[in-house]
Amino acid sequence: MNLLLLGSGGREHALAWKIAQSPRVTHLFIAPGNGGTASVANDHCAATNVPLRADDFDAIRQFVLDNSINMVVVGPEDPLVKGIYDYFQADASLRDVPVIGPSKAGAQLEGSKDFAKGFMQRHGIPTAAYRTFDGNSLDEGLAFLETLRPPYVLKADGLCAGKGVLILPTLDEAKRELREMLGGMFGQASARVVIEEFLSGIECSVFVLTDGKDYKILPEAKDYKRIGEGDTGPNTGGMGSVSPVPFADEVWMRKVEDRIIRPTIDGLRQEGLTYKGFIFLGLINVDGEPKVIEYNCRMGDPETETVMLRIKSDLVDLLEGVACGDLASRTLEFDPRAAVCVMLVSGGYPGPYEKGKAINGQWSMLNGQCSTIFHAGTAINADGQLVTAGGRVIAASSYGATREEAAERSFAAAREIDFEGKYFRRDIGKDLK
Ligand code: AMP
Ligand code: GLY
Repeated sequence: MNLLLLGSGGREHALAWKIAQSPRVTHLFIAPGNGGTASVANDHCAATNVPLRADDFDAIRQFVLDNSINMVVVGPEDPLVKGIYDYFQADASLRDVPVIGPSKAGAQLEGSKDFAKGFMQRHGIPTAAYRTFDGNSLDEGLAFLETLRPPYVLKADGLCAGKGVLILPTLDEAKRELREMLGGMFGQASARVVIEEFLSGIECSVFVLTDGKDYKILPEAKDYKRIGEGDTGPNTGGMGSVSPVPFADEVWMRKVEDRIIRPTIDGLRQEGLTYKGFIFLGLINVDGEPKVIEYNCRMGDPETETVMLRIKSDLVDLLEGVACGDLASRTLEFDPRAAVCVMLVSGGYPGPYEKGKAINGQWSMLNGQCSTIFHAGTAINADGQLVTAGGRVIAASSYGATREEAAERSFAAAREIDFEGKYFRRDIGKDLK
């Protein structure tokens, strides 16, 4: 079969790597992909980057028809929130090509924080207490802040490329930011703001694949969001990830399944929200009890760069189960080894940084049994040289018998790869017992 994968980050390289291993796939196209995605080609599967934007639905339509694409896998949230699933359903020539991802209505779980909070409330899913305010209820919002204890959590309702959540230490700052957000700080995305209770605990990302009726729980992971070692400094898109997560043991995961996953799948069905794809549960462990921080309608990045290593089964078989509505009959087996991803980023990130730096090093031999080098922000320039093209540049992912061993291998790979301004955290996984 021919498969089209949309997106261009480390997540997409990891998905491409796993998809290309499936004996069912003969040609994988990645739109637009990055400097590494086409290198997943192997004996039975060709791989080609195609210069299409992941949210240019008309161009995607033409490409799907011209290249007899049999399935579309959507990496990032943007096309899903904009309704790519519905676009395919509404077109007689595309309707039979499955899109792995939720409908526009289902993608509101990520596209609107207020919708997600209301959904959790309707279905009794544990999450932080909250209220939502808009420009007409600014005074109520300011008064509500006075009833809370610091720190204060303010969330823009809509998508803000990961920048829409503010955690403020003082009441004055919270009030000022609320005024700014409702005044258009993030444009339409912050026309409504969710104010919620601050939860304290360790976070864990749990991934579910669903066909709308049944579900499979994928390996869980933990990501490292801050730029600095010891979880200091500003938030980033993610500096590394580990899987498995020690506190996500059987007892904890049973709570997650009973209190969060099953009510979510049932709630989506009851509300008629078509959902055939990945659900990312951003969870927090509050004194042993899982609560939902956020839903995303896609896989996580850089979690995918460890989760894909830990799936032993054929991912495309599972995706076909999603498309056919018989996911329950497919098997999902985990690799028992640990996986750790270390992200190499551009100097200055998450602030301003330069692009176009040559990436060098004797690292092609690392791409083997234990380590896999996923590209995140890379490109191949006119001279055929691999160069940096983003803040997060390379995700070095490795297996190990233990988390420590996996981490050491990824650190070794990170040292081997070189570009001007390279930075990576040397403490990924070291906080876990
Ligand atoms: P989000 O964009 O919803 O993932 O939020 C970004 C980050 O803010 C999360 O990963 C958490 O680290 C933090 N955060 C969000 N909501 C809360 C909350 N209610 N309590 C504590 N931390 C939170
Ligand atoms: N790693 C968090 C995310 O993908 O949103």
